[in-house]
Amino acid sequence: MPKAVVLGAAGGIGQPLSLLLKANPLVTELGLYDIVNTPGVAADLSHINTQSKVNGFLPADDGLEKALTGADVVVIPAGVPRKPGMTRDDLFKINAGIVRDLATGIAKTSPKAFILVISNPVNSTVPIVAEVLKKHGVFDPKRLFGVTTLDVVRASTFVAEKLGDPSLAASVTVPVIGGHSGVTIVPLLSQSSHPLPDSFATSELEALTFRVQFGGDEVVKAKDGAGSATLSMAFAGAEFAAKILRAIKGESGITAPTYVNLTSDPSGAEALKKELGKEIDYFSSVVELGSNGVSKILPLGKVTDYERGLINAALPELASNIDKGVSFIAGPK
Ligand code: NAD
Ligand code: LMR
Repeated sequence: MPKAVVLGAAGGIGQPLSLLLKANPLVTELGLYDIVNTPGVAADLSHINTQSKVNGFLPADDGLEKALTGADVVVIPAGVPRKPGMTRDDLFKINAGIVRDLATGIAKTSPKAFILVISNPVNSTVPIVAEVLKKHGVFDPKRLFGVTTLDVVRASTFVAEKLGDPSLAASVTVPVIGGHSGVTIVPLLSQSSHPLPDSFATSELEALTFRVQFGGDEVVKAKDGAGSATLSMAFAGAEFAAKILRAIKGESGITAPTYVNLTSDPSGAEALKKELGKEIDYFSSVVELGSNGVSKILPLGKVTDYERGLINAALPELASNIDKGVSFIAGPK
């Protein structure tokens, strides 16, 4: 039954992500929307022998509305990527308007869809989507997610490398909380499913933390002007979408770190805010997913003094990124 739609489907993330969704047996229909090239991408993918029907749409002839009609899950990787020397916040000028317009389409055509936001800066684009949905009276905080899975994927890879056993990469899990940019990315390495050795020096812990926080910069630098992470992001986006699809189907007990509006679970949020020691409206935390979206925001659990320092450093930047997104739609407070 689930129809998945990718907005920005012809891009560096959009194409491999659409491929991975086409390969997912839970998807029965795939709608691909972009301002360019979607007929070609859709024709190409449509020859793959999996069950989903694929259609490509361009803006002409109400393409956005047609793509979104009947959507259950909408993934948004539309927008410009970084070049060396830029922060994710530098993308706000262009991407905020793109995300606002796409969210308006969702509000009008598929307001009940689960929305997975990849476009940067995620810390601000998720509040933009929420404010647009609120304006249209259709905001359900349980169904809106900022995709932070790439940080989780990176943490697994880098920890497995440090443990000297890359074969562990797929099974290592590390909660990565906060937001999705620089210091707002907080890996809780003390909670790794595969603990780091006691002999791990403070300097090594700091270097590993930094690598997770600034992993995106490594790729931007290596691509040298040709964009940012696309293939690893497509993998991460497909992993998260797969969890959402399983939850929609009724599977219980699925958890993932994701950036959510904290009204999605008021009691979980209250406990989380006590742990954080600060009022905040959005936060990436480990969330339990259910068939209606966020079912529980889980507590942070035990954090070390070092991690507490990282959280304290993340919160002011996160709050200002959230304000910027909210004000873009709702006007200044
Ligand atoms: P890209 O330039 O390769 O692709 C972006 C696509 O968006 C293009 O095909 C473009 O035509 C399309 N697009 C632009 N305006 C549009 C509109 N109004 N409607 C529909 N489509 C539109 O960029 P990319 O490398 O795929 O990155 C896309 C975004 O994802 C960037 O903002 C990037 O920073 C972000 N990103 C986020 C994460 C994350 O972890 N959340 C990871 C990597 C990249
Ligand atoms: C990433 O973490 O790779 C993405 O957010 C893209 C970027 O700009 O670094």
